[in-house]
Amino acid sequence: MDFKASQKLENLAPYAFKEINDRVTALKEKGITPIDFGVGDPSDPTPNFVIEALNKGAIKHAKSGYPSYIGLKEFREAAAQYMQRRFNVSLNPETEITSNIGSKEAIFNFPQAFLEQDDYVIIPSPGYPPMKTGTTFAGGKCYFTPLLEKNNFLIDFESIPKEIAEKAKIIWLNYPNSPTGAVATKEYYKKLIDWAHTHNIIIAADEGCYIDIYFDEKPLSILEVAKEGIVAFYSLSKRNNMTGYRVGFVCGDEKLISIFKRLKTNIDSGTPNFIQEAAIAALDNDTHCQEMCASYSQKADILLEALKQIGLETHKPKATFYLWQKVPTGMSDIEFAKRLLSPEIGIVVTPGSLISDKCDDGINPGENYVRFALVPSIEEVKLASQLLIDNQKKIELQ
Ligand SMILES: Cc1ncc(COP(=O)(O)O)c(C=O)c1O
Repeated sequence: MDFKASQKLENLAPYAFKEINDRVTALKEKGITPIDFGVGDPSDPTPNFVIEALNKGAIKHAKSGYPSYIGLKEFREAAAQYMQRRFNVSLNPETEITSNIGSKEAIFNFPQAFLEQDDYVIIPSPGYPPMKTGTTFAGGKCYFTPLLEKNNFLIDFESIPKEIAEKAKIIWLNYPNSPTGAVATKEYYKKLIDWAHTHNIIIAADEGCYIDIYFDEKPLSILEVAKEGIVAFYSLSKRNNMTGYRVGFVCGDEKLISIFKRLKTNIDSGTPNFIQEAAIAALDNDTHCQEMCASYSQKADILLEALKQIGLETHKPKATFYLWQKVPTGMSDIEFAKRLLSPEIGIVVTPGSLISDKCDDGINPGENYVRFALVPSIEEVKLASQLLIDNQKKIELQ
């Protein structure tokens, strides 16, 4: 039998990471285990108190049954309490919150609830890939808008052509931003909301993945500014080292949430109840996040010092566990990433161009950057920093 992938799948960009992955495989074949700053998957374990709640939850829900696709009432209440405590945002757990099975699925699926064929979705570049793939699979068109240092990596919404704004149904935001580490201010959100309301565009804010991982001021939620026409996506994956649990929530404008819930009934069957019990415990605890922030901050400082020592321009991010590092002038991000994968260094990073898309001006804004995810242990970060310093000559332009 002959099977072919669908045209939609074929149309997605070819697997761009292959060149980097091949190098990693070659290193492993030589017996070298690279230090992996590539994928943003925390290497620390889920906190014990969460695992205990999970175990108790499994006993409590011994009669399994399908979970509710919108989440247990207790989970939605815990999400509402978290939003109240953390941002002073009041949400009705019945109408303004639904659980998700991790933000990835929610972000991918969300456009299907609102798009007609060829509607535009405005997407930041660099950006989280499901914003793009979800739009394409829903029949929509992507308009990529660049996140540039000169704009503090905020979307310059005023530069979006009027004809695009008129045809756009959704704008995706992601602050605290992966990979740039930027955060948005209240003033910025106010102006952006006015602009989106003028054009009748839904604001889909993927804000909750890194909102509790910050180094100075607490990042704010866009829902502190307004709720109408806005939904915010939350995830426990990074906040509590729970990437494998697949749990989070979506909250905001009740009209949007109600439509999204209708879509969800057709797609998934909800997060398992015992996992929601673990998530309730996790959402209720902030101490754990403070410890994580201190650890990520320490890792950032160690690595930034080494990057500075080898002559690179460095900036500490405001939030998230990523460094969006400029590569030496005259060298491409791919070349820089490859040099870090030489056997003497053995460090994996993500080339910026592979997580960014070309924008209107034909430029890919990730071209001169690589992303470090600060997920290796402190010892590994120290070792990686020393390797960078010891091998400066291998990294520099010759
Ligand atoms: C910006 C951003 N949003 C959302 C997610 C989704 O996380 P999850 O599906 O684990 O909730 C990620 C994961 O890496 C991310 O980086």
